[in-house]
Amino acid sequence: MDTYESIATKLDVREFSSRPVPAEIKRKVLEAARLTQSGNNLQHWRFILVEGKENLKRLAGDSTSGRWVAGADFAVIVLTNPKYPFHLLDAGRATQDMQLAAWNYGVASGVYTGIDRRALARDFGIPEELNPSAVVAFGYPVKKIIGKKNRKPLSELAFQDKYGKKLAI
Ligand SMILES: Cc1cc2nc3c(=O)[nH]c(=O)nc-3n(C[C@H](O)[C@H](O)[C@H](O)COP(=O)(O)O)c2cc1C
Repeated sequence: MDTYESIATKLDVREFSSRPVPAEIKRKVLEAARLTQSGNNLQHWRFILVEGKENLKRLAGDSTSGRWVAGADFAVIVLTNPKYPFHLLDAGRATQDMQLAAWNYGVASGVYTGIDRRALARDFGIPEELNPSAVVAFGYPVKKIIGKKNRKPLSELAFQDKYGKKLAI
C-alpha cells in the first residue's frame, strides 16, 4: 500500500476479529515506533507490548475511554518523558507510525488517551518518570473498512501564505 493510500484509508477501529496477528507483524509495528524520529533524537520513549486476554482485560480496566481494548489482539502502551516539552508530539508520531505500519499489513488499530495513570503504573510496572501518553490497540478488523473519513474540507484548514488567505492550488 502506498503511503498516501495508507493515510487516506486508515480509520480508527474499536472492534477486532479473533484472528491472531502474527508475531512478525507485531515486531514490525514495534520497529516502526523505534524508527520514528523524536525531538533531538532523544528516544526517551518506551513501549510495552500487551498480549493475552487477561493482560488486555487489565489494560481495559485501567482506561477511562478505551475499554474496547479488551477485544484487541494486542496493544502497545506508549510511554514518554514529560520533562521534554515536545514529548506528546513524539508520542503522537510513534503512535501514528505504528498504526500506519500495521495498516500496511491489513491490521486495524485504535488509539486512546483516557488512562487511569496510577492504576496503569501499578499494573504494568511503569516507572515514575514516564507518562503513559497513549495506548494503541491492534487487531484484524471484523468487517471490511471503507476509507470514508469525517473531516473538514481543506479550504477550511489550510491557507496560502497568510492565515485566512484562500489556497491558490
Ligand atoms: C490524540 C488522540 C486521542 C484519542 N483518544 C481517544 C480515546 O480516548 N478514546 C477513543 O475511543 N478514541 C480516541 N481517539 C480516536 C479518535 O476519536 C479518532 O481518531 C477520530 O474519531 C477519528 O477517527 P477516524 O480516523 O476513524 O475518522 C483519539 C485519537 C487521537 C489522535
